[in-house]
Formats: sequence, structure tokens, C-alpha cells
Amino acid sequence: MLRVDDIHKRYGDNEVLKGISLTLERGATKVLIGPSGSGKSTLLRCINHLNKPDRGTIELDGQRITDANIDRMRAQIGFVFQDFNLFSHLTVLDNVRICQLKVKRLSHEEATRRAHEELERVGLGDKAGAYPAELSGGQQQRVSIARALAMDPMLMLFDEPTSALDPELTGEVVKVMQQLADDGMTMLVVSHEMGFARQAADEIIFMEGGYIIEQGPPDVLFSTPAQERTRAFLNVIAEHG
Ligand SMILES: Nc1ncnc2c1ncn2[C@@H]1O[C@H](COP(=O)(O)OP(=O)(O)OP(=O)(O)O)[C@@H](O)[C@H]1O
Ligand SMILES: [Mg+2]
Repeated sequence: MLRVDDIHKRYGDNEVLKGISLTLERGATKVLIGPSGSGKSTLLRCINHLNKPDRGTIELDGQRITDANIDRMRAQIGFVFQDFNLFSHLTVLDNVRICQLKVKRLSHEEATRRAHEELERVGLGDKAGAYPAELSGGQQQRVSIARALAMDPMLMLFDEPTSALDPELTGEVVKVMQQLADDGMTMLVVSHEMGFARQAADEIIFMEGGYIIEQGPPDVLFSTPAQERTRAFLNVIAEHG
């Protein structure tokens, strides 16, 4: 479904991605871990050209993503950010509906129907008329997941979706993501939620310094990592939660 091949990205002298390649099969969930500054967000942003890669190619469902088709390709990739990115002046319903109306050009009726469907799926069927400021962080993040899903994406990218939340609110967001993975969504998730990574991921990818150091199934990578650097990083997150 997704093929990332030899992606390089630099900011001035700082080469942040030094040749990243990975594939994501249809219906698979992969979790990307690694220290701060290792290039995880930059990689996700390169996938849908929010950052333009300097070198390398991205293919979605066999089609190369280029400047020429970026709007169409982007509409097929759901992106969930750490800080929700909801429109504060719009209701929950309008936040979920707006891209369907403007980008997909669905009818008002169809967009409304899809929005309610996705709000139900994330457990917020009763919040359609609320404004983001009236919701908890966990609820806001679930709205942003519903908004992405309402576009019927082929692929969902999550960049630390729970790291801006109070610990007691992460569970409700993780539960929605777990359900999505179980339902067969294709997902690439930057997250240090180890419970989610163990349960939902087909594979864990450990990045450091702009390289993929190691990847493998969670039970292998977490219990018997092959690389010393992976082991050291896992010790750090085990200590700091
Ligand atoms: N727009 C930018 N301009 C210049 N440098 C940038 C930019 N975006 C990221 N960087 C640099 O790229 C490096 C990787 O950043 P990135 O945000 O991808 O890391 P990360 O792995 O997501 O880290 P974190 O865990 O803290 O989110 C960092 O050194 C950062 O300072
Ligand atoms: Mg990041």
C-alpha cells in the first residue's frame, strides 16, 4: 500500500533523513519509535509532502506521489497530529464535514451522514454540536481522527497522537486506534505507547539519527533487540514511561 524508498531530507547542514526505506502492506500497522530529533515527524511529513523530500520516492497504492498529483494523493492520506489541529470556530460536525465538502465535494447530506457515522465510531455521537474548546483533549483528538476517517483514506499517519494528553485521557484515544487497526486500516504511527505498540503493531521500526536502525515484530524487537542502540533506547523509555 505504501512504499517509501531512499528518502533523504536536510535542513541546511542538518541531514535529518539519511536514506529511509520502508513498506507498509494493506491492512498493516507499523509503529515508529526513536529518540527526539531522530526524524520521525519529518519522515511522516515527507510521506504526504508537507515536507518535500530532497531525494527518494513515495508510492501509495502503486502510484508515485509527485508535485503534480499531490492534492489528490493527500486526500487519500489521513494525518493525525499531536496537537489535534481542529478549527476552533467550527463545531465538531463542521470540523469533520469541511474537507468532505471542500475537497471531496460531497453533497451536504452525504457529508453530514458520513460525519455522524465517524463521530459514532470514535464514541462522540453526542458531541456534534459542541465546539472544540468545550471538549477534553482526548475528545478533541478523537474528533480529529473522525475527521481523517471521514475522507475514506487509504492510509492513516499518526504523529504522537497521545503525547499532548493527560495520562488519564490517552486510553480513550489508544482504544480508537486499536479498533481501527483491528478493522484493517493501514496505519503508520509514531508513538511510544508501548501497550498499543505491542498489541496493534505488526512491526516496530526503530529510528535514530536519520536512519532505520532496526525493525521487527514487537515481541522480537522489544524482548530481544539485535542492536545495542535499540536496547539502550528501550531502556530509556522503560524508565521514563
Ligand atoms: N522545519 C524545520 N527546519 C529546520 N530544522 C528542522 C525542521 N523540522 C525539523 N527540523 C530538525 O530535524 C530534526 C528532526 O526533527 P523531527 O521533528 O523529525 O524529529 P522527531 O523524531 O519527530 O522528534 P520528536 O520525538 O521530538 O518529535 C531535528 O534536529 C529538528 O531540529
Ligand atoms: Mg516528532
